[in-house]
Amino acid sequence: MQKNILVTVVFLFITLFSCSDKKNSTNQTSNSKVEQKVDSVLALMTLQEKIGQMNQYNGSWDVTGPASNVSDQEKLEKLKNGEVGSMLNVLSVKATREAQKLVMDNSRLKIPLIIGYDVIHGYKTIFPVPLGESASWDLDIIKKSAAIAASEASAAGVNWTFAPMIDVSRDARWGRIMEGSGEDPFLTAKIGVARIQGFQGDDLAKNYTIAACAKHFAGYGFAEAGRDYNIANIGEYELQNAILPPFKAAAEAGVATFMNSFNEIDGIPATGHKILQRDILKEDWNWDGFMVSDWGSIGEMIAHGYAKDLSHAAEIAANAGSDMDMESYAYEAHLEELVNNGKVDINHIDDAVKRILRVKFKLGLFDDPYKYCNEEREKNEIFTEENQAFSREVAKKSIVLLKNDGNILPLNKNIKNIAVIGPLADDKDTPIGNWRAKGGRNTAVSLLEGIKNAVPSSTNIIHEKGCDIVTNKAIGRTFLLPLEFNTTDKSGIPAAVKAAKNAEAVILAIGEMALQTGEGRSQTNIGFLGVQQELLEAVYKVNKNIVIVLMNGRPMDVSWAAEKVPSILECWQLGSQSGNAIADVLFGDYNPSGKLPVSFPHNVGQEPLYYNQKNTGRPYNATHVTFSAYRDAPKTALFPFGYGLSYTTFEYKNLKLDKNEIPVNGKIIVSVDISNIGNMDGEEVVQLYIRDLVGSLTRPIRELKGFEKIFLKTGETKNITFTINQESLQFYTVNKKWEVEPGNFEVWVGGDSNASLKSTFKVIE
Ligand code: NOJ
Repeated sequence: MQKNILVTVVFLFITLFSCSDKKNSTNQTSNSKVEQKVDSVLALMTLQEKIGQMNQYNGSWDVTGPASNVSDQEKLEKLKNGEVGSMLNVLSVKATREAQKLVMDNSRLKIPLIIGYDVIHGYKTIFPVPLGESASWDLDIIKKSAAIAASEASAAGVNWTFAPMIDVSRDARWGRIMEGSGEDPFLTAKIGVARIQGFQGDDLAKNYTIAACAKHFAGYGFAEAGRDYNIANIGEYELQNAILPPFKAAAEAGVATFMNSFNEIDGIPATGHKILQRDILKEDWNWDGFMVSDWGSIGEMIAHGYAKDLSHAAEIAANAGSDMDMESYAYEAHLEELVNNGKVDINHIDDAVKRILRVKFKLGLFDDPYKYCNEEREKNEIFTEENQAFSREVAKKSIVLLKNDGNILPLNKNIKNIAVIGPLADDKDTPIGNWRAKGGRNTAVSLLEGIKNAVPSSTNIIHEKGCDIVTNKAIGRTFLLPLEFNTTDKSGIPAAVKAAKNAEAVILAIGEMALQTGEGRSQTNIGFLGVQQELLEAVYKVNKNIVIVLMNGRPMDVSWAAEKVPSILECWQLGSQSGNAIADVLFGDYNPSGKLPVSFPHNVGQEPLYYNQKNTGRPYNATHVTFSAYRDAPKTALFPFGYGLSYTTFEYKNLKLDKNEIPVNGKIIVSVDISNIGNMDGEEVVQLYIRDLVGSLTRPIRELKGFEKIFLKTGETKNITFTINQESLQFYTVNKKWEVEPGNFEVWVGGDSNASLKSTFKVIE
């Protein structure tokens, strides 16, 4: 009886406020309505129900972490009791409806589940892996691709994605580098915000938007030696200046959730890091969403040697501000006791639950818990032709032309004879990449198919694989690619050589297989696995007219190829329309415009490598060997950050600053003329870099502070302006504040991080 009255009260509250919401237009008012609703629900909850909201289970439709031994039956019972606030990996409308129904039909307060999934670069229509897509430097298409991913996911019952990953990463060995936007905090922040806006739209309550998740907070991309889950020894200033800016931008953009990270930072696991989660994120940045732990990361504090048992881990995590427990089963087992014996303050629990309820209200789940469970939408709005067409757009804009000696590209479509060679040439799986959500195996348009679609039937296409990358072809989701699977089988190489011999041009598709990058996929070798290098060299012996189509999720060591082979096209893992998009570029239907979001080294020994490095006390010494360099390799990149060629040529001129001296809160307008002096229309990413010459802390030798992607017709000139202001000049100083320090600055504008067009200015007190 009492139960029924309570339920009626909750729904009265919700309905009343929902109705008035619709008439209400100002954000502030609707926010305060949400707060009232949250408080009204919280007031009705028992401690056990509160802890239930902080509990997230995996749904076992897809297992994206170490599986637990908790049975499905146990999970069902907990769902019915209202002891689960969220599930991840519950896929399809049918399954999400079933899970939601268990809660709605049985639990006392009927608080709907929020359903999470790793929708990282598309749901079923797959876009380029995030590192690849970032190479487009095109915020509009990135936003739209996230919006399409959200709309497909929301049509299948999902209302929360664990994306974007905004971990700045400077180490090609780290397998998860493919999931982010590379080495630069400014670019990562801009792309992260575009993705958040795409996923969440302007209103979370709309049916086709979903909650985003900024991850992994923080320092995960700085895993020592690029080994996944490893420690990150980051000082406070580096953390603030190089790692946190994208997260702050995400919080300001209103991202609904954050996920913490597996690593420790200077001895403290991120999941138990109070300064990061409570003090910086929730206090200083005043962010009101909720923090989900990473998979099992609460329990992993035991292995870290930071918690003595699961109860202690729960205590540390809850006190540090981890609001939801993903798959550690720590909160459900221990929080009640920890609150009762005073080890965890009930206010921390209330705060966590309010944050979770807030997101659920904003998603509209209380108005209609089944709003994402629409069979019609699931049938009609996923993997549509329109979405495929957009995937091709994004893919072609993500391709980076690394080398094009003698303008071997674009190829003439009327080419008589073309050899398409390599283990990835007809691979329909690799372009789908890792973290592929519902992107099916072998569903991409292969390069060979794309080429066939592009050329007339009169063109003679000879295809030879040449070799495999690994012997084991079981490229399932759990395939771990141990190195002993590397193939040593060279038997296919002679046929490839024969095919290459008489061809007018050779397209050689080599690189990494889909699951070579991603979680747990760290490597110390970033060259070509298997016998790919042998294949390349054998083909090169008989035909120098080679275009390498590189498919990969991390920067690779391509130094031999870069020296010998005339043309290299960086094609990442481009998603569902990969082959068509690559063909668009190969045959000149699209002029490549991508720029590297990450430095490509001469060899793995240079890692971590990044353009925005510090000068050191011994940057160069022409007269003695004792300066900061390698004796056996350059210290700079083979292909630097921001780099990418075009089929046309852009000329930069007339760099002007409207003033050369400003106060700390002043601004400078930088202007530059860019002309297309080549023979083809094209796009260019105009980049602005600065250097703060002397600081209270040492400053990077260059920092990206602005970019714009522009289109120029042949012969056209455009004047582009950038504003340098407080935001561009400030950094987290020795005073532990974001400040602009007076002094001298240098500024460059150009087409990559080696831009040479330069000016200077001064900031005065
Ligand atoms: C672990 C990964 O680190 C995280 O990024 C992902 O969202 C979760 N597993 C859920 O799959």
